[in-house]
Amino acid sequence: MSLELSERFQAIAPSPTLSIDAKTKALAATGVEIVNLSVGEPDFATPDRASLAGVAAIVGNFTKYTPVPGIMELRTKIAEKLATENQLQYKPEEIIVSSGAKQSLYNVFMAILNPGDEVLLPAPYWVSYPEQIRLCGAIAVPLETDESTGFKVTAQQIEQAITPKTKAILVNSPSNPTGAVYTPNEIKAIAAVLEKHELFIVSDEIYEQLTYGTEHYSIARYSENLRNRTFVVNGFSKTFAMTGWRVGYVAAPKHLVNAMSSFQSHTTSNPSSISQKAALGALGTFDQAIVREFQSRRDYVLGQLQELPGITVAKPEGAFYIFPNAKNWVGLTYTMHDGSRIKVDSVDVACELLLTDAFVSVVPGSGFGAPNNFRISYATSMAQLQKAMQRFKDFADRLN
Ligand SMILES: Cc1ncc(COP(=O)(O)O)c(C=O)c1O
Repeated sequence: MSLELSERFQAIAPSPTLSIDAKTKALAATGVEIVNLSVGEPDFATPDRASLAGVAAIVGNFTKYTPVPGIMELRTKIAEKLATENQLQYKPEEIIVSSGAKQSLYNVFMAILNPGDEVLLPAPYWVSYPEQIRLCGAIAVPLETDESTGFKVTAQQIEQAITPKTKAILVNSPSNPTGAVYTPNEIKAIAAVLEKHELFIVSDEIYEQLTYGTEHYSIARYSENLRNRTFVVNGFSKTFAMTGWRVGYVAAPKHLVNAMSSFQSHTTSNPSSISQKAALGALGTFDQAIVREFQSRRDYVLGQLQELPGITVAKPEGAFYIFPNAKNWVGLTYTMHDGSRIKVDSVDVACELLLTDAFVSVVPGSGFGAPNNFRISYATSMAQLQKAMQRFKDFADRLN
């Protein structure tokens, strides 16, 4: 036998968003002052009620194993939240809590995918979907979109892509990385097509609270038929600024939840008992002022980018990302601050130069299936955004 890693592991690419963050932090550690627009986490504090509930859990010695799919109290509260905020009816037994929505998604894919199965994946997509799908031996089939359609797939596009091998479709609205939000009517048109085909729906709704004018509508709401084969994925990271606490969940019919619970019982067991208590404390504390704040940052960044030479940009309706297209920069030459000149061969190279010479950190679109674009997260202060936009202007001036 050899000492090589498994083929499965050899095929994995590390998360580009986390690696750009590591690069940024390494450069910052050398004393360079960087504006970091690469991170996918809110710059707000975890709500006090959540933090205090976490502290109380520690002090109260609520620090032992809990049931694998989470404590009943939390599953019950999540079911109530889904009923009141999303008009979705689930029993507590139809909820499984995990260590972040990332784990929730992996549980889902492991539960339904066999090698060779196809998953329809609207592109640009969040980086971890294709990797997780591949880890199951399945195939992610991208459904291409661009700025011209606001980065949204159409019902017709989906209908044409479905084959006998299609096991599932991924829906992510609001979207990371594009910020696209499907309107209720657009979701209903997609749902009408999916009604006619036997496949699972994975609906990642983690940014549901962050929409700027378009109402979030869960596809599971459309009909009993769809609800019974949809996995509604959500979590506490984005809504409650709790990325480090690691709490996500899935709502799905009981037999599917039981299957995922068995799998989780052999991988990680319950999510952190302390974090579960903190999540309980967080529910119901969402502050709408956060939406207004993100919206005004979105408006500012969008306005600035629209004036940047060589950039085209779609207006994002949700989440805290904007996804400019910089293909017109490719082929130009960039003059560094030390006078040397570098050919911009790709948007990846532009992002590298933005980091190392303009000291703004963004994520290249290649990992999201969109090599002409890059992702900006505006989950940072207005002062930082203003600084970043000035640096973008200087950067663009150095291209010719
Ligand atoms: C679309 C999407 N889904 C899921 C996640 C996972 O979030 P977490 O594992 O922190 O709950 C993220 C995080 O970046 C995301 O952007």
